[in-house]
Amino acid sequence: MGQFLSNCSADALATAAQTLLDGSLVAFPTETVYGLGADATNELAVARIYEVKGRPADHPLIVHIADLKYLDQWICEIPEFAIALARKFWPGPMTLILKRSELAKDFVTGGQDTVGIRIPNNSLALGLLEEFHKLSGAGVAAPSANRFGQVSPTTADAVTEELGDYLADTDLVIDGGASEVGLESTIIDCTGELPRILRPGAITISMVEETTGLKASNSLSVKLNNLEQENIRVSGSLENHYAPKAKVILDQQPMAGSGLIALEKIVTPEGVIRLAAPNSIEEFAQVLYSALREGDHQNLESIYIAQPTGEGLAIAIRDRLSRSAKGR
Ligand code: TXA
Ligand code: MG
Repeated sequence: MGQFLSNCSADALATAAQTLLDGSLVAFPTETVYGLGADATNELAVARIYEVKGRPADHPLIVHIADLKYLDQWICEIPEFAIALARKFWPGPMTLILKRSELAKDFVTGGQDTVGIRIPNNSLALGLLEEFHKLSGAGVAAPSANRFGQVSPTTADAVTEELGDYLADTDLVIDGGASEVGLESTIIDCTGELPRILRPGAITISMVEETTGLKASNSLSVKLNNLEQENIRVSGSLENHYAPKAKVILDQQPMAGSGLIALEKIVTPEGVIRLAAPNSIEEFAQVLYSALREGDHQNLESIYIAQPTGEGLAIAIRDRLSRSAKGR
């Protein structure tokens, strides 16, 4: 079932870091979504992540570190543009895919010669990672703390709801309140000459281009040509990901008895259950996953969503929604 830690003190984080070192799992808050962490150099611990999530073992994991000074050990080369991105956006909602070092074993990278690295911007996550480095830990592998294919958790309760039945008594769940961003990190492949966005997020393509001075591409065009390979590399790019139990219907007039998620300015038709009424795109991202979960708690058959239009974070929202709408 896993133990629950709230109001985390420095002591509690040191205990949690020791738990990781002992080979157990620690679910922890980040600014994007909650992660299910394991010592990224411990094969058995990492294997338990796959078991608890019910995720295929060839899907690579993101390694989380506390500071840029711990980056070198995980990678063997880094282009100038990736250094610029790291300096600008870390700690933050961005994952860089880089050529791996010997330390990044196949059991973390899914057998690829690259590794995904992120410095999250959340004080509990950074505290935990820093304590783990103090114990000579190199990094924490952590996917989103949900069962494979389901909605990522943005609260500790949602983690327990997803994984409680699968966690062991020695595992921990750290409660840090609701994640501020609410959508998973932007994933940027930095192994080519130009940055390539594999998963859109709060760090947008224009932010990447402005920081690097380079033209960035996104994975959409690549996916069309090479769907299967891309799916393995980025499981979040699978068609039917991020799906609640309810059927998700996009941009249609909601039927009575169903749920609705839409910007505040859109009125709720009679008989429709309003699940969220965010007043900005940022708030839309922040509340989206908990609103989908709420729809499931209420056993709704369908959830209607009026997608936000425009660029930036709205692109990431629409990316996840189009996948949710494909169902399970
Ligand atoms: O915001 C986030 O990124 C959260 C928090 C916990 O950090 N993590 C997260 O992890 O979303 P996960 O495993 O649910 O999604 C990470 C995605 C996966 O789809 C994986 O395939 C991709 O990152 N990925 C990891 N390493 C990769 C690599 N070397 N090459 C390509 N894709 C990679
Ligand atoms: Mg995930």
